[in-house]
Amino acid sequence: MSARRTIRVVVNGSKRQTTVESRTLLSDALREGFGLTGTHVGCEQGVCGACTVWLNEDPTRSCLVFAVQADGQCVTTVEGLCAPDERSVLEREFSRAHALQCGFCTPGILMSVQALLRANPRPDEQAVRELLSGHLCRCTGYTNIVQAVMATASYLAMPQQGVHDD
Ligand code: FES
Ligand code: FES
Repeated sequence: MSARRTIRVVVNGSKRQTTVESRTLLSDALREGFGLTGTHVGCEQGVCGACTVWLNEDPTRSCLVFAVQADGQCVTTVEGLCAPDERSVLEREFSRAHALQCGFCTPGILMSVQALLRANPRPDEQAVRELLSGHLCRCTGYTNIVQAVMATASYLAMPQQGVHDD
């Protein structure tokens, strides 16, 4: 029988704790321990990217990390991208560009793209497509996702941020 251990994690800015088995994956701890079901689990092999979260700001496949490895660390999930009653610019542009259909891949892609835009606010299309090559989307064909990301980068580069007419 696997040993159980209490882990303390700063999740989306709040101190949280839960008890997990030593073999519990971070993806499962987020969904079942913390109720953050926005993190999706697809392949559980590090291939599809659906489970991507930030571990100390670094995009990380949470199905490849044991929950105990996150003890004492900061984790950001898609629920933490912005305040609960808001949408991020990226989420808004995804909606505008129809960059999702079933939405299964979307949380992981949002986490990776937001990290890309943090590091490189004006990525070219090739950089966006390279990033997306690490995420499987069976619905969209990726074109609309690329459009949404490029639109987000253009919007964020405008001098007046924070004002956006839908
Ligand atoms: S579920 Fe983690 S990469 Fe697919
Ligand atoms: S929108 Fe369905 S898998 Fe991407």
